[in-house]
Amino acid sequence: MTSIASNLQIDSTRLWDTIHETAKFGLTAKGGVRRLTLGPEDKQVRDWFRAACEAAGLQVHVDGLGSMFALRKGRDMSKLPVGLGSHLDTQPTGGKFDGVLGTLAALEVVRTLNDAGIETETPLCIVNWTNEEGSRFAPAMMGSAAYVGDFTTENILGRKDAEGVSVAEALDGIGYRGQESVGAQKLGAFIELHIEQGPILEAEAKTIGVVDHGQGIIWYDGRITGFESHAGSTPMPLRRDALAALSEIVLAVERIARELGPNAVGTVGEAVIAKPSRNVIPGEIAFTVDCRSNDDTVMDALDKNLRLAAAEIGRRRNVEVTIDLVWRKAPTHFDKTLVDAVETATRELGYSNRRITSGAGHDSCNLNTAIPAAMIFVPCKDGVSHNELEDATQPDCTAGANVLLHTVLSLAGVASK
Ligand code: GLV
Ligand code: MN
Ligand code: MN
Repeated sequence: MTSIASNLQIDSTRLWDTIHETAKFGLTAKGGVRRLTLGPEDKQVRDWFRAACEAAGLQVHVDGLGSMFALRKGRDMSKLPVGLGSHLDTQPTGGKFDGVLGTLAALEVVRTLNDAGIETETPLCIVNWTNEEGSRFAPAMMGSAAYVGDFTTENILGRKDAEGVSVAEALDGIGYRGQESVGAQKLGAFIELHIEQGPILEAEAKTIGVVDHGQGIIWYDGRITGFESHAGSTPMPLRRDALAALSEIVLAVERIARELGPNAVGTVGEAVIAKPSRNVIPGEIAFTVDCRSNDDTVMDALDKNLRLAAAEIGRRRNVEVTIDLVWRKAPTHFDKTLVDAVETATRELGYSNRRITSGAGHDSCNLNTAIPAAMIFVPCKDGVSHNELEDATQPDCTAGANVLLHTVLSLAGVASK
C-alpha cells in the first residue's frame, strides 16, 4: 500500500455532520429517529443517500426489494466489488446510529478516497439494505436474506405489515422497487460498521469490537384465544382470560431464557388485545416472541421449552395457544480471514480492541452464509440501542470509520499509478 493510503484518515467532522443531517428524516421529539422501512421518511433518506452517492461519483442502482447499491469503479472491473454499508431504516422509536453509522461511514470512506485521489484495484459497492429492522415487516434483514437466497423475492414482496400493506405495495408507494433482480449485484466480500448495541465495549473501555460471531435468532407469532365476558359478573374460576395466560407465557419466556443462560435471551416484544375494554375479560391476544443464542443446541432447547410451557399454560387455563415459527436464523461464525483483516487494521491504527459476539442480528450475518463477511463494533452509551436515547461519541464513530476504511483498503488494494 502506498504511504498516502496507509496514513489516510476519514474526515471526522464530515461523518458526524452527515449522521446528524440524516437524523432530520424522522427525528422524534426526544431526539431519536422514527424511520420505518419503506415509509415516507425512509423515502426521504433514500433520496438523500442516492443524491449523496451520485455526488461522490458512484453509480446507484436498486434491486427488486429496494436494496440500494452504489458502485465505485476499481482499476480491475473483472473483480467482484468489496461491499460496505448497513441500513437506514430504524425502529419505531429508534436512535441516530443503529445502521446509519455503517451506511454513512461507508459513504465517508468513499469521500475520503475521492479527496485523496485514490483508486482501488477492486471496485467498491456501498449497500443500504432494505428492512434490516423487521419492525414493520417480518422477518428482519429481509433484503439481505433474499439476496443470499434464504427467501424468494416473491415471498418477501407478499409480506404484509400490521395494516395489511404488502412489501410490494410499500416499495411501489415510495418508488423504490428497482429493476435489478435481487442478488444480481455480486459482491466479493462485505464489511459492516455498527454500534455494539450492548454494554461490553463501554464497560471495558475498548474502542473497537472485532466481531467474530453473531447470535442465532428465532421469531414466533403467537395467538391466545380465550373467551370475552363481563368483568363484573364472571366468577374467577369460570374465566378464560387470554391476557392472564399471556402474562404467564411472558414469565415463562423469561424463566426459560434464564435457565438456559448465560447464552440465551427471550423477549415478548409485542402484545395486542383484539378488542380491549376495561370491563371485558380479554378473549383474544396476538403476541410475538424473540429468542436468541449463539449456540444451536440452546436454540433448540429454547424452542422446545417455549412450546411445552405454552401448551401447559393453555391447557391449565382452558385457552387455545398457538405459537407459529416466523423465522429462524442460525448463529453466525464470521469469515476468519475477514475478521483477521479487521483486527489487523484496528491494531495498525492503534485502537484498543477485543473480539466480540453480536447480540443483535445484522445483514452481515445473512451475507456471511454466501460471501465472506465481517463486522466492526464501536461502543454506544450505556449499551442502549433500539431506543431514542441511543448515543455514541464522535471519536468512537471516527475510529470505527477509520477501521472500515483500512479494512476495505486491505481487501480492495490500492491501484498503482
Ligand atoms: C435487528 O435489529 C435485531 O437484532 O433484531
Ligand atoms: Mn442495525
Ligand atoms: Mn436495529
